[in-house]
Amino acid sequence: MRIPDQKLNEILEQLDIVGLVNNYVTLKNKGGRWWGLCPFHTEKTASFSVQPDKGLYYCFGCQKGGTVFNFIMDMENLSFVESVQFLAEKAGVQLEIERNQENREEDERRKTLFEMYRRIADSMHYMLMNNPKGKGAMDYLNGRGVTEKSIHDFNIGFVPPDGEWLYKFLRKNNYSTNFLAGTGLFSRKNISFSPFMGRIIFPIMTVHNTVIAFGGRKLGEGEPKYYNSPESDAFKKGRNLYGIHLALSDIKKQGTFILTEGYFDVVMLHQAGIKNCIAPLGTAFTEDQAFKMKRYVNQGILLFDGDNAGKRATEKSIHICEKAGIICSVVELPEGSDPADYIEKHGPEALQKLLKYPINSFDYLVRKAAGRYDTASLEGKELFLRSLIPYINIIQSDTKRESCIQVIAEKLEVDYHSISKDIVRWGQGKRKYGSSGEIKQSSEVSTELFLLLAITVFREYFEEVRNFLSVDDLTDRRARDVFIALEECYRLEESSSEALLEKIQDSELKKMIIIKGTTAEFNQNTEKIIRDSIRTIKKGSIEKKRRKIERRLREYESEGMDLKEVKELLNEKIYYDKELERLKGTEYE
Ligand code: CTP
Ligand code: MN
Repeated sequence: MRIPDQKLNEILEQLDIVGLVNNYVTLKNKGGRWWGLCPFHTEKTASFSVQPDKGLYYCFGCQKGGTVFNFIMDMENLSFVESVQFLAEKAGVQLEIERNQENREEDERRKTLFEMYRRIADSMHYMLMNNPKGKGAMDYLNGRGVTEKSIHDFNIGFVPPDGEWLYKFLRKNNYSTNFLAGTGLFSRKNISFSPFMGRIIFPIMTVHNTVIAFGGRKLGEGEPKYYNSPESDAFKKGRNLYGIHLALSDIKKQGTFILTEGYFDVVMLHQAGIKNCIAPLGTAFTEDQAFKMKRYVNQGILLFDGDNAGKRATEKSIHICEKAGIICSVVELPEGSDPADYIEKHGPEALQKLLKYPINSFDYLVRKAAGRYDTASLEGKELFLRSLIPYINIIQSDTKRESCIQVIAEKLEVDYHSISKDIVRWGQGKRKYGSSGEIKQSSEVSTELFLLLAITVFREYFEEVRNFLSVDDLTDRRARDVFIALEECYRLEESSSEALLEKIQDSELKKMIIIKGTTAEFNQNTEKIIRDSIRTIKKGSIEKKRRKIERRLREYESEGMDLKEVKELLNEKIYYDKELERLKGTEYE
């Protein structure tokens, strides 16, 4: 699809770029340019600038730049075309977009799908509220203290357990079997059967109130407790948040969001008058979600379940928030209860009171680390410090980093400078941000990428690579991309460079492959280099998994043991030890 340049120019002419950007970033004029704090990375002095005469923006800190169209794409999370449409409307320019057939069909399909989701969500809600078949579900919800108002506000619904209600209902409304098969509402094997049958339905909506998916909870016990719509191009779990459509205005008003783990928590908090509350969709809180929230506010409170999983999720989310530049704090709940349970047991005021006194996220991490390691012993001090380094290394503000190191120094009763030195020593190469807060360019080639690039030149070694390594052994994104492309070529028995390049999206990476193919860089000792790299990568990958298990085992020690799980972990560890031994045996030379 193409939008004519002349249209783009027309929009640019009509728009006041400074005024537009100023809606997102406060700008001040200095020497013909406008300056402000960059919205794409955290900084204390303004390095983000707008040049109205050229219609461009650029950040000297993180090197992000482009036209207003790019700016709006990032700020509003839109595609290029959507961004042009968004701005055309502001500029009062008429757009007749020449969409190609395929895009038009996809847009049309998505529109029909979301309209259907809206209709079916309303019908499921009606079913719950008014149909005798919904009575059991209604009793269940009432029994858990959910009010009719909440059921209405969240448009909660129910799909009866008997046979083909959902299917028949939609067929009666003239949706074709073919269309229904792609809605994610029905079983792949048996189109008239829906996994949502007999479940209470939580429609998942965007900020704009579009229903994009459903979460379905079983009435009472049984597995799986929740069934969620499968992912598709139109719906990504890691990019959406439950409750955002109802919470956003309060989030903005209060300048902070409350993140819980579950649908029920969001509903119950909302009902308790705490309306700035959201939850991920059955996965851990992702960077995507954090960056999305960062567009609206820069503070959040983590209110997770009071069990080990909740504690681990809290620690992980603290890292995610720091990366996104969100200042987060933590409210801990008693062992075994989630926010919904807590309200049920102690009432909304009790939870409101807890939320008034969250603890600072670093204090939380320190407290957890101190519970795991004995900070009076020598080994304990080292393990304690090491466990906090990954966090220290992602802190973006110098002031905050220094203060955190200070806290560690006091806790361990060790000199501040020694701690700093150890952090550099043990965290080397991992620090993402330079001292000025600028993001480092990662231009160096990792061992993984080095190997895969060599394989693009010597394709005959790929078979050996895939015998030893799988894509899960690779952590470098670009190496993974090359691996996947090579694997596809291997399966399709395509050996040409064109076929390979066709499967790579990243243009930088494409360039690298072309350059490697035309220089003689790998011509010496090829076989040895390739075998050594394979072994190094495999070893690294196994060691990483092994370390993870050891960490888990240590956690179990401090958090109480579940013997079955410990046994499983130990077995896994033994397996990895054997693998490492085996690798030594394959040493080349
Ligand atoms: N979840 C899921 N699939 C499961 C279990 C959980 O997608 N099999 C997701 C759901 O988004 C759920 C969240 O993880 O809301 C938290 O899980 P859990 O605490 O078990 O559920 P609650 O929402 O608290 O529901 P309830 O209070 O009914 O147990
Ligand atoms: Mn829960």
